Amino acid sequence: MCGIVGIVGKENATDILVQGLEKLEYRGYDSAGIFVTGVNEQDHLVKSLGRIADLRARIGQEVQGTVGIGHTRWATHGKPSERNAHPHTAGDHQFILVHNGVIENFEEIKQEFLQGEQLAGETDTEIVVHLIAHFSKEAPNTKEAFKKALAVIKGSYAFALINKNDPETIYVAKNKSPLLIGLGEEFNVICSDAMAMLSQTNRFVEIADGELVTVKADKIEIEDETGTIVCRDSYEAQLDLSDIEKGTYPYYMLKEIDDQPAVMRRIILEYTDQVGRTTIDQTIIEKITESDRVYVVACGTSYHAGWVGKTIIEKVAGIPVEVHLSSEFSYNMPLLSDNPFFIFLSQSGETADSRQVLVQINDLGFPSLTLTNVPGSTLSREAMYTLLLHAGPEIAVASTKAYTAQIAVLAVLAKAIGDKKASPVSKAFDVAHELSVIASVMETIIDDKITISQLVEDYLAVTRNAFYIGRGTDYYVSMEAALKLKEISYIQAEGFAAGELKHGTIALIEEGTPVFGVITDEKTAAHTRGNLKEVESRGAHNFVISLASLAKETDQVILPDVHPLLTSLVSIVPTQLIAYFATLQRGYDVDKPRNLAKSVTVE
Ligand code: AGP
Ligand code: GLU
Repeated sequence: MCGIVGIVGKENATDILVQGLEKLEYRGYDSAGIFVTGVNEQDHLVKSLGRIADLRARIGQEVQGTVGIGHTRWATHGKPSERNAHPHTAGDHQFILVHNGVIENFEEIKQEFLQGEQLAGETDTEIVVHLIAHFSKEAPNTKEAFKKALAVIKGSYAFALINKNDPETIYVAKNKSPLLIGLGEEFNVICSDAMAMLSQTNRFVEIADGELVTVKADKIEIEDETGTIVCRDSYEAQLDLSDIEKGTYPYYMLKEIDDQPAVMRRIILEYTDQVGRTTIDQTIIEKITESDRVYVVACGTSYHAGWVGKTIIEKVAGIPVEVHLSSEFSYNMPLLSDNPFFIFLSQSGETADSRQVLVQINDLGFPSLTLTNVPGSTLSREAMYTLLLHAGPEIAVASTKAYTAQIAVLAVLAKAIGDKKASPVSKAFDVAHELSVIASVMETIIDDKITISQLVEDYLAVTRNAFYIGRGTDYYVSMEAALKLKEISYIQAEGFAAGELKHGTIALIEEGTPVFGVITDEKTAAHTRGNLKEVESRGAHNFVISLASLAKETDQVILPDVHPLLTSLVSIVPTQLIAYFATLQRGYDVDKPRNLAKSVTVE
């Protein structure tokens, strides 16, 4: 959700921290802050509501130090404000703490340990730093005080703590929320995401839940819950700084929409051989074919990709698939089949709701596979198997290329399972060829984005709401298209099963309401057209996205034909562009929509 950076070194840390926070902006935040200090140096705490640019504007020349921590906050407890922004301090400003996550028992801690304590704001985090200061009165050192506090705390966290009386160390601990250590020459760093510190190092060390790490300029020490020192190898981040730059694009979202043909081609290369056979590890395929039902668990865009994946896996591989929202599944687990197999879809691999389910599934001993875009992410580490999406870093909050990558990888997976089961549908499904056709068609759509931009002005310039409708896969695409539109342009949009509108929602259609119909399925095309007529008769301003073989001349976007199981991969692209242009035309920040976070690491 929010982001954490930190550095212990010999040079001035201020700029490294601020640049690191800029790299984490994509995760979503509402305020930010840094603390810098060093031996014989004055310490500086600077916080600001709003963007990193606002924080930067407050940082004067005098803000220098060799040790520091920085934070972007996505408010959970207490409204976004300068007071509630991190870092938080306690013990007469001796202890300085940043936190990502949620402390569930902060009220109880306050009652039991901090009666009468003066607090500056309303955050759960502030309770923790006061608790550390409280325990420090009796503990022999900062580490022991921190450990005592960790033993009391319940919830999710990544913490970075500085004791300014001992300023050459950052103490770090995590549970559920992501945090990494980066290794440098005469300095070490911490960050929520390797991207933040890639300009400093590409060697990182993972931290497991429950561990406490002491980070100094020349060494790091990892201690597990029992106090045993843990030796862990570092790994090289497979990321290039250029992958995370916008280049000539005005927004990451547009770059990521344009990346999609290349992503399709990369998936073909990664997961199929020269004669089109799938190359996915057979142990995964065997495990899935042994199961009697696949459960796809995901949130948001990934959940929508799961629905498309369900159709492909059921048709190609003949295994029943259920698709579930992680946040619902974890507290209302459905009756499971005898031999379930779980697929977790998560671009970030860090989504707390999905991880909550994975922990339960692991406890129950069921096999699982995570499809993620982030190697080494929590969900990929904790599932039995993992497959990468190979989409390259996705920075814009609105997910685009991860959605199409998830569907493409699920299609390859379906083919691999189908082949293993000798399914005739699978035999006829040349997934590598079909995905290469998709890549070319995506290019055609992307090349004509100017047409979409003009149409968007006609349809969405002034409207308050809009609908996407379709049937089957077109319905699943409609759900995703509506999410895209609402999350960045703030137009209230709903994705509906076309036939379901007349059972209530049609009451919302007024003169001029934009209704986008998605028509890519021969079986249902006539029915969806019928539903479009129904809304048109009630004043709707219809916009049709159709496949060439099913198109009418009057349709607004006509897509070249592709394999019937993969139409979502092309019909989604105009809807991504529609959301992009609608947002641009309304003057909002495409990449950083209000209230949202890229990586949702709280439940
Ligand atoms: C979609 O544009 C959003 N970014 C959001 O719905 C996202 O897909 C969801 O939070 C799940 O994230 P994940 O794929 O990283 O688990
Ligand atoms: N729960 C903390 C707060 O509201 C941390 C939120 C975050 O992860 O940014 O301040």
